[in-house]
Amino acid sequence: MKTYIVGNWKMNFTVGESSLYLHKLLQRIKTYRDIEVVVAPSLMALQPLSLQVDRRKIKLSAQNAYFQDFGAYTGEVSASQIRSLVDYCIIGHSERRHILGETNKDVRQKVAAVIRNGMTPILCIGETAEERKNGETTDIIRDQLLSGLSEVSSEDLDKIIIAYEPVWAISTTKAAKMATPDDIKEVLDLIHKLLKKTYGEEDAEKIPVLYGGSVKATNAEAYLSIPGCNGLLIGGASLIAPEFNDIIEIAKQVRA
Ligand code: PGA
Repeated sequence: MKTYIVGNWKMNFTVGESSLYLHKLLQRIKTYRDIEVVVAPSLMALQPLSLQVDRRKIKLSAQNAYFQDFGAYTGEVSASQIRSLVDYCIIGHSERRHILGETNKDVRQKVAAVIRNGMTPILCIGETAEERKNGETTDIIRDQLLSGLSEVSSEDLDKIIIAYEPVWAISTTKAAKMATPDDIKEVLDLIHKLLKKTYGEEDAEKIPVLYGGSVKATNAEAYLSIPGCNGLLIGGASLIAPEFNDIIEIAKQVRA
């Protein structure tokens, strides 16, 4: 299985800055057959970046997409409208769930819409600090994972990616708040176990499971070395082209 290094730019960079960043990254980046590099710019930048990008080096992802294809949904942009621009689409990021009120039902419909439109959803799941404190991590992960995938047919299981992002470990610089490899391994094991139980060993093994939450060049090696971790979803550190490129190089070394 490939290792996925995905940069989530969130609501950062103007269109011009996005293009400049991509230019810098394309100059630096080396292509490795076993590493899939993906960046998720803002929706505004997807059209120009789709013309600029060299897809052999970097794939594009959207950060969200609506599940209806067309219609009276003011302000939304559908999976069918972005399908020619991107290969991937992040769905159910915790900021969408917790700040923008996205429900498991929305997430499930969006995952299905992204697959229906020929892209790969990167389904994000993860518990909040409160849920973890209350011992609810297993239930939350199970609910978010299985409901997120409930409209995915078994033939489409090779078209999805799961990203475990504990909400409490996102965007922190405090060492005490960062997830340790042991914390992460426990949940990655749970995710792999749930996938195997639901879809059978053979199909479950096709599904990459990534980790995300304050990944930096300094901790990428430790996270990528966790058994069952098939890549990284990176926010803040992906905004710095040299650091993002360093993480790609670390992935190459860890997988060598
Ligand atoms: P972070 O963001 O790397 O800045 O913690 C990760 C994410 O939210 O996808």
